[in-house]
Amino acid sequence: MTEQKRKEATIAVIYGGRSAERDVSMQSGPLVAKGLRSKGYHVIELDLYGPGAKLDPIVQLQSISFDLAFIALHGGEGEDGRVQALLEMLGKPYTGSSPLACGFAMDKVLTKRFWQGIGIPTPAYLSFVGQADADLIERQMSYPVIVKPSREGSTIGINKATNRQELDEALVKALTYDSDVLVEEFVDGAEFTVTILSDVAYPAIGLKPAPEHKLYDYEAKYLADDTEYLLPCGLSEDDETELQGLALEAYQSLGCSGWGRVDIMRDQEGVFWVLEVNTAPGMTSHSLVPMAASFVGIDYASLVDSIVVDAFGKAACE
Ligand SMILES: Nc1ncnc2c1ncn2[C@@H]1O[C@H](COP(=O)(O)OP(=O)(O)O)[C@@H](O)[C@H]1O
Ligand SMILES: [Mg+2]
Repeated sequence: MTEQKRKEATIAVIYGGRSAERDVSMQSGPLVAKGLRSKGYHVIELDLYGPGAKLDPIVQLQSISFDLAFIALHGGEGEDGRVQALLEMLGKPYTGSSPLACGFAMDKVLTKRFWQGIGIPTPAYLSFVGQADADLIERQMSYPVIVKPSREGSTIGINKATNRQELDEALVKALTYDSDVLVEEFVDGAEFTVTILSDVAYPAIGLKPAPEHKLYDYEAKYLADDTEYLLPCGLSEDDETELQGLALEAYQSLGCSGWGRVDIMRDQEGVFWVLEVNTAPGMTSHSLVPMAASFVGIDYASLVDSIVVDAFGKAACE
């Protein structure tokens, strides 16, 4: 598709949604729309599952005319492949990964089981469906551990446990978000996140939450201004190259495409451990993907344009 033709396209920016990350998406969506408009696209904004949405999502999507959907939903059906599948059924191209890759990446237990099988380092874990066995956890793992719902995002429902009482509490909390929970070995070390755009790994960002935040949690991510972002991330060139290579491998192993972000920790011995892949990461003014892009001279509008160009390119190959 020529640039001229592409710019005549109408992009439906889908945001809002009904996941726990709705508020974040409500910040991402309008910014994406603004960025695309500044690049000359026609843009329709659509809050598919919002409180005002009277029609079901498929009818809403069928009632507007658009050439490509920019998915600016985070978590829930916007990130687990359901909205992507809906768009596939309508024959509409969209940004980011396929339904299968999204569903895979959203499920931390499935992802980790797969990564272990193919040798991608991810923290040791136990997983449970419905009811967790705290005695088994205590026999097989040592504190501290991290307890997570398998399919959530933004650190929602994630807690660190350093003793049995905290473990029991953390399991109850995680189980309120998902019937599948995992208990992971705690990695004592630095945290990094790597943006991937069109199969290229961008410079890693080091995340240094203020000491009072036990984890890089929801509050630190979205509300507090005291998380330090290290960009450049502070690793040697060789170590950062290793980190970027690992991030890209983890992302591609799940079949992800278009764009995404990979969360990785590094322990005291310098070993990297992949936590997860995000297939619809935050795009707010202080989100990590725009930060990494800006570091290499790509402004917000050019970033969203690149994501759209990638999606049109993929659609043309199908
Ligand atoms: N095994 C771990 N060891 C140490 N910290 C962890 C571990 N797993 C998660 N965390 C912390 O919790 C945060 C959220 O975990 P993550 O697996 O990325 O889930 P989410 O989908 O909620 O972002 C991470 O960014 C990190 O700060
Ligand atoms: Mg994460």
